[in-house]
Amino acid sequence: MSANVLVMPMTMADLDPVIDIVNASFTSPWSKAWMAGALQNRDDCFFSVSKLPDTQQITGFAVYSFVIDQAHVMNIGVDPAFRKQGIGAALLQAIIAEVDAKNGIQITLEVRKSNVAALALYQAHKFDVIGTRPRYYKDGEDAYIMLRES
Ligand SMILES: CC(C)(COP(=O)(O)OP(=O)(O)OC[C@H]1O[C@@H](n2cnc3c(N)ncnc32)[C@H](O)[C@@H]1OP(=O)(O)O)[C@@H](O)C(=O)NCCC(=O)NCCS
Repeated sequence: MSANVLVMPMTMADLDPVIDIVNASFTSPWSKAWMAGALQNRDDCFFSVSKLPDTQQITGFAVYSFVIDQAHVMNIGVDPAFRKQGIGAALLQAIIAEVDAKNGIQITLEVRKSNVAALALYQAHKFDVIGTRPRYYKDGEDAYIMLRES
């Protein structure tokens, strides 16, 4: 993990800066209301944020679900001003470590076929493409289904 990254559980106090990152990162972003509700009420969802060690500025976020022994990466995003510095990798590594600690056996996710950065990030962390979901996204783009086994 990069020395420039702290990863910790997300709280409601982090919601506004995280929503800014969500809006800067996705064409169909999660709404603030949905995120607030899920953060407070979804026992199966785990939210984390990355922060700069010195100023505590939030630089990224990640969300995964965990049921029995299966995890699913629901979202991961890094502030565009802080990309390519190892923060996305740190957020993903924190998820992998948590899933391992819970004795999870598989982590799955969907990613746009065109998302070169995310595909490279996941492949570098031992996720393999195991299938395709045609027209998975609202704009009609296909998703790859990726799997990492413990
Ligand atoms: C995908 C994303 C989270 C990566 O975050 P990041 O902090 O920039 O990633 P890192 O700096 O930790 O990079 C880790 C690895 O990812 C890959 N990667 C990251 N950005 C890349 C890019 N622009 N092109 C190619 N590979 C890239 C590389 O393998 C990199 O390892 P390396 O630095 O040793 O080459 C970020 O680009 C982002 O927020 N994108 C928009 C939201 C998104 O698409 N989320 C994924 C939804 S499935």
